[in-house]
Amino acid sequence: MAQTYNPQLGREHSYPYEHREEERDYHWGMVINTNRCINCNTCSFACKSTWTSGEGEEYMWWMNVETEPYGGYPMGWDMRLLDDLEADQTIFDAAENGEKVRGYIAEKQAWEYPALGDDQVHGEYPEGEVVESDLENDEYHDIWQFYLPRLCNHCKNPACLAACPRKAIYKREEDGIVLLDQERCRGYRRCVKACPYHKPMYNPETGVTEKPVGCYPRIEEGNVPRCVSSCIGKTRLHGNINRGPDAGPAGGKSSAASGRSPINYLVHSDEKVALPLYPQFGTQPQVFYMPPYHVPPEFLTQMFTPNTEVKENEWPGDTYEESVRIVQERARNPSHEVLGILQLFGATTRLIETYNVKENRVKGWDRNGEKVVDVPIEEPMEVREGEQWTNQ
Ligand code: SF4
Ligand code: F3S
Repeated sequence: MAQTYNPQLGREHSYPYEHREEERDYHWGMVINTNRCINCNTCSFACKSTWTSGEGEEYMWWMNVETEPYGGYPMGWDMRLLDDLEADQTIFDAAENGEKVRGYIAEKQAWEYPALGDDQVHGEYPEGEVVESDLENDEYHDIWQFYLPRLCNHCKNPACLAACPRKAIYKREEDGIVLLDQERCRGYRRCVKACPYHKPMYNPETGVTEKPVGCYPRIEEGNVPRCVSSCIGKTRLHGNINRGPDAGPAGGKSSAASGRSPINYLVHSDEKVALPLYPQFGTQPQVFYMPPYHVPPEFLTQMFTPNTEVKENEWPGDTYEESVRIVQERARNPSHEVLGILQLFGATTRLIETYNVKENRVKGWDRNGEKVVDVPIEEPMEVREGEQWTNQ
């Protein structure tokens, strides 16, 4: 079987499909700051009302928010697959005879409750007592939960695409968005079985499968996806994950001082602050998460790292747990550069291709080199003189 180098794992593994990622200048990508998510599901409803409000689509939540560690849609989607994989095995390495990918089709009941496990915490809740956390001394909380927005990752090694015998799924040349051609689809559901994130969903009314589309009509017009623009917590930044530091200024205009995209900085710079979800599956997902800084890193390690042995790659620590600690600390106490980029989250509905952080301002330019955002990093604070209101 063909091999591919996977930078998220720092090694090669099998991938049963022709692969040409290195040739692409532009690739759809997203960074989500979990520390800002409040589980309001505005993103989920924005996505559903835009894309999946028809017959047979009732259970289709292409965008959903889960409470970790007990939520999940479909129920138990991650643990069930992890149990089937041996250490250092991707879903492609673990494929059974006659299959290209190791996966499973979730039962009907697993789709019945999109919000099951919502707000359920991990840890013993002392009955009748107020829970107090000494954050001065405790780095992480004993009782915790956090919200995990989940969507199609428009993977660089898409399992859905590799598994379809009809070649009905393809990756767009221009931006790497993974699309399903419903005219070609015959409802074989190999893609439904293969996607470890369970995002292709079968429509029993039409007899064909549907999968998330990355809001491609909006991307083509230079706008961010609906889940990004609607997010009231400003949790997300969308853009070109492949635009590294060596790219020239956007649109060839010199006004865009930095050639790098802001999400590329958050994910691929020496100051990495965002991690992929279950990279050990091997699909190279392109949605990255700034991990919650109050949650014990032992848990986050199994969710946001390959959790085997650190190989030669972009991870900042000698072990994955240490890497997670470093990334959490960077999210808790951001550098001036990261603080600047955080102001770009939710600041405009236009796609930001390049950016620049200078003193107290951060600016962003689109693909044509036109400025689309210019905001202060820290707002001036004024304290009014005179007697202060108190409730004494
Ligand atoms: Fe395909 Fe699933 Fe990856 Fe989306 S998340 S590209 S549906 S394998
Ligand atoms: Fe292929 Fe999935 Fe349709 S496997 S035929 S795209 S249901």
